[in-house]
Amino acid sequence: MKDTEVIAEELVFRPLPHVVIEANVNPQEFATAQSAAAADYLAYWEDAAHELEWFRKWDQVLDASQAPAYRWFPGAQCNIVHNALDRHIATANKNKLALIWEGEAGDSKKFTYYELYREVNRLANAMRSLGIGKGDRVVLYLPLIPQTMIAMLACAKIGAIHCTVFAGFSAKILRRRITELRAKLVITADGFYRNGHLISLKTIVDEALMGDCDCVETVVVVNRANLDVDMSEARDMCYDALVRQEHSEAATEIVSADDPLFILHTSGTTGEPKGVIHGHAGYMVCLHRSLDWIFDIKPTDIFWCTGDAAWITGHSYVVYGPLIAGTTTVMYEGHPLYPQADRMWDIVARYGITILYTVPTVIRMLMRYGTQYPRMHDLSTLRLLGSVGESLSRDVWLWFYKNIGHSQCPLLDTWWQTETGTCMITPFPVSVLKPGAVHRPMPGVSIALTDSQGKSLPAGEAGHLVITRPWPSMLLGLYGKEELYQHTYWPLGIDMYWAGDIARRDEDGLVWIHGRSDDIMNIAGHRIANQEVENAFLTHKAVAEVAVIGVADKIKGEVAKAFVILQPDFAVLDDRNEVIRMLKNHVRKELGPVAVVRSIEFVNTLPKTRSGKIARRVLKASETGTDIDISLITED
Ligand code: PRX
Repeated sequence: MKDTEVIAEELVFRPLPHVVIEANVNPQEFATAQSAAAADYLAYWEDAAHELEWFRKWDQVLDASQAPAYRWFPGAQCNIVHNALDRHIATANKNKLALIWEGEAGDSKKFTYYELYREVNRLANAMRSLGIGKGDRVVLYLPLIPQTMIAMLACAKIGAIHCTVFAGFSAKILRRRITELRAKLVITADGFYRNGHLISLKTIVDEALMGDCDCVETVVVVNRANLDVDMSEARDMCYDALVRQEHSEAATEIVSADDPLFILHTSGTTGEPKGVIHGHAGYMVCLHRSLDWIFDIKPTDIFWCTGDAAWITGHSYVVYGPLIAGTTTVMYEGHPLYPQADRMWDIVARYGITILYTVPTVIRMLMRYGTQYPRMHDLSTLRLLGSVGESLSRDVWLWFYKNIGHSQCPLLDTWWQTETGTCMITPFPVSVLKPGAVHRPMPGVSIALTDSQGKSLPAGEAGHLVITRPWPSMLLGLYGKEELYQHTYWPLGIDMYWAGDIARRDEDGLVWIHGRSDDIMNIAGHRIANQEVENAFLTHKAVAEVAVIGVADKIKGEVAKAFVILQPDFAVLDDRNEVIRMLKNHVRKELGPVAVVRSIEFVNTLPKTRSGKIARRVLKASETGTDIDISLITED
């Protein structure tokens, strides 16, 4: 993209000719698709659905009769694993690499589609023999290892619902998820490697299952790190022993379009994180389209999404999306800085990665180490770059674009959420790019920017981002919380999905994301509600009251800052640093290392709203020295 222009102080990058010529969707096709989808979005998504294989096709494209409980492709029968795996076995993809996995220590494993298929079938058979079947919830508490992908696919293959819990979460959180979901089976590993450390996982599962956790019948333990772990004879089984004798063919369960595929917990403003449910049919249709059109997949691609499989980015763009597209997906277990800051570039060069999809927090971290590390490796195989999870500031965008993409690779800043399942607002490889903008909605996706009442705002004005038509990969609901689904996502009506983000459109119609409108922090790309961290503080006896706000951090984007009113007995203690250490450790133990509390300030009072709730925004405004835009505050 040598053709760079500065228009109205904004950098603009026009697509290079070879990108346009080779793109799966060229600008004319994109424009045609946009207008066709705008005129008849149901026909557009139906066309996309026809590109996949179904056991039975739908009676209707969309059933909106119970809106906002929209149901896509009702009457259809399918299984996402049929499209992600089974169908490839009858094609030339059979012997193509499906997965390249690399451990932090440099060990690696490769699976062709056929090998992956056989492994998935073995585990599927083993799970069936354990009595797991359609609709059962299986909790996966696993690091980024091949068995994580295998377990997800095996669950889906038999119609069970996988529920991953990020391996950075605490025993308490794991226990809450297991009991809420009434999981019969937990799959975990003995431990894993991260930044040179050996981290034990099985002990956390044991802690989570202590006492009266009666739903779990079996814990399957993958041997990743050769750790000597305690195995409960009645409950625990070794993964290898379990699958060794199993047959490598297994029937794929026929599921209905809206049968749940997975449940993934994500933070909302109030209370506990909620289990977002995604199904087989609509999810696979949007994934297939996004891999084909946005990521422009070609037969020779090697696709690396650096997200952890436990989060939505990993579900969609490490596991299901690349496999549905029949491409080779890459998984790296460890830390980007291990053993030094060139690890990612080394991986790109060694495997000839062509598409790299990552998160701003990782780019910012690597940027700090300068260009000497990327310069150590040949990155010329890269042809597309992507980012998700947070805004890319202009300097970070340009660093990534110039030093990693060598100004040759379109950089796609994609906006989406756990709830949306797949990319919603994004440039295409052929788009004219503006660093910092997430560009336009995908064809078939309609958005608006509104005031708090749902009235559309003119270009240039920041407002609430709403999605104004249902889309196939939308969440099916919240596990066990039907009412909350309606209140949380459709407060303005059944044709306005409330994303919880503030954004604006510029004069060219491109979308710029400003951040969340609600009390949710984005710590290194992880979504954590302020209230979750406050609740963790409140379980410590020293804390009388607390307010948590997100404050800017150069690497993590945001970290938590807590304002604490101590209980009288603790308020008189002289060693405040010791109290701070104690509270930080406590929150880390409650939530896991994901919730980074950078600082704690002791205060005597906290600002409150008229209804008595803590006014976090007042604290935030005084912390950052900014004014509060009252019009955009969600009423409490
Ligand atoms: O605030 C937006 C931010 O991440 C939120 C969704 O978080 P989560 O459900 O964890 O999913 C993250 C990965 C899909 C959004 O509400 N976000 C996501 N993508 C972007 C973003 N903010 C700015 N720019 C993005 N490209």
